[in-house]
Amino acid sequence: MEVLSQSKEVLSTSPADTPKLMHGGNYIAEGRDSNKSTWLLFSPETPDAAGSLARFLSIFSTHGVNLSHIESRSSARRPGYEFMVECEHGSGDFGAVLAELRENTGYLNIISRNYKDNRSAVPWFPRRIRDLDRFANQILSYGAELDSDHPGFTDPEYRARRKYFADIAFNYKHGQPLPHVNYTKDETATWGVVFRKLTELYPTHACKEHNHVFPLLIENCGYREGNIPQLEDVSNFLKDCTGFTLRPVAGLLSSRDFLAGLAFRVFHSTQYIRHHSRPLYTPEPDVCHELLGHAPLFADPAFAQFSQEIGLASLGAPDDYIEKLATCFWFTVEFGLCRQEGQLKAYGAGLLSSFGELQYCLSDKPELKDFEPQITGTQKYPITEYQPVYFVANSFENAKEKMIKFAQTIPRDFGVRYNPYTQSIDILDSPRQMRDLFKHIHQEMELLVGTMDKL
Ligand SMILES: [Fe+2]
Repeated sequence: MEVLSQSKEVLSTSPADTPKLMHGGNYIAEGRDSNKSTWLLFSPETPDAAGSLARFLSIFSTHGVNLSHIESRSSARRPGYEFMVECEHGSGDFGAVLAELRENTGYLNIISRNYKDNRSAVPWFPRRIRDLDRFANQILSYGAELDSDHPGFTDPEYRARRKYFADIAFNYKHGQPLPHVNYTKDETATWGVVFRKLTELYPTHACKEHNHVFPLLIENCGYREGNIPQLEDVSNFLKDCTGFTLRPVAGLLSSRDFLAGLAFRVFHSTQYIRHHSRPLYTPEPDVCHELLGHAPLFADPAFAQFSQEIGLASLGAPDDYIEKLATCFWFTVEFGLCRQEGQLKAYGAGLLSSFGELQYCLSDKPELKDFEPQITGTQKYPITEYQPVYFVANSFENAKEKMIKFAQTIPRDFGVRYNPYTQSIDILDSPRQMRDLFKHIHQEMELLVGTMDKL
């Protein structure tokens, strides 16, 4: 599959030693264990049929299909229970199991990472926030592995440090506090150079949302030249603002996995820093890119909602749509420009963390186009030089509306909705759920009307 690149962000070709950041963790490929299992979600034809689970399990054992996970729960679609099972590939006759289930269930949904071999299946996606733990062992390359042209390639101390950070992320589980790191003197000095240079430009080049949040990060999260903020502090701050949280990532994630995290308002973040020999250059996302570029915007409610919409649109989407969504992500969250009070401003993290490109993007050199997901999603782009084309959003609200409309064109025979109470994804594919959702919206409308009457 085509590589979009998340870590192959490359040095700019400009004469100055300016950074050219790319997004980390963002390319299209299947994970290492992508073909190991298929998930089935099904419910009996008649509610609460006595012994229905035992009857269904016998179908699997009859055809020799091993199950590595069995879960029963109250169904949101129909009265009674539904069951979710994970079937191991390579065991028994899976086709016969599907045929028998189709005849004997009232509802059947197939969720598979291996969906190229099974066009009727929906690509697997996380349903609960803790499912994101699975991504840790599906990374496409370990963060400690450096290319030969990486500035830290011949530095054994730096490589050991990178392994330390990769191990932290690899062992991280949802719900744990984000590990605090004692950054070295060299690392802090590197951060200091980047911080000083970029903060010179923010007042004139960054969007108003970034400039609004940045002083709050200084006040609450230890943002300053002589200190690299801790992910834990930034994550807690974002959670208070918009519900976004950070989680450490050990290496490259597929676009599908990376975008899925956004559906839960989770942003996968690196924690290591670039090599000290070239503080204004990095061939991959690092903590400067994440904390100076991304974090401030995730504290803005409209931007957070926009980012989550991209994530929700990606869940269960076919591969070609994942590529379009990842490209939209590239031209917005990474390299987006917006118009504010008649002036162009930068809001993309790749721009806000690059001293060189932040100046270039607002010059008269690049071509500007209006952000339209249908068009933006097919735009080709270089990863080793400044972008020749940028897409301009009128506002995050407007961009969000466009993303929602675009998501409706994705061929999925279900809707998805994030449930913040359970931190899980509701799959909407039954009239009963539509009725429940309508009731919920109706109650919200009554609250709105009642409050308006009082004012
Ligand atoms: Fe990024």
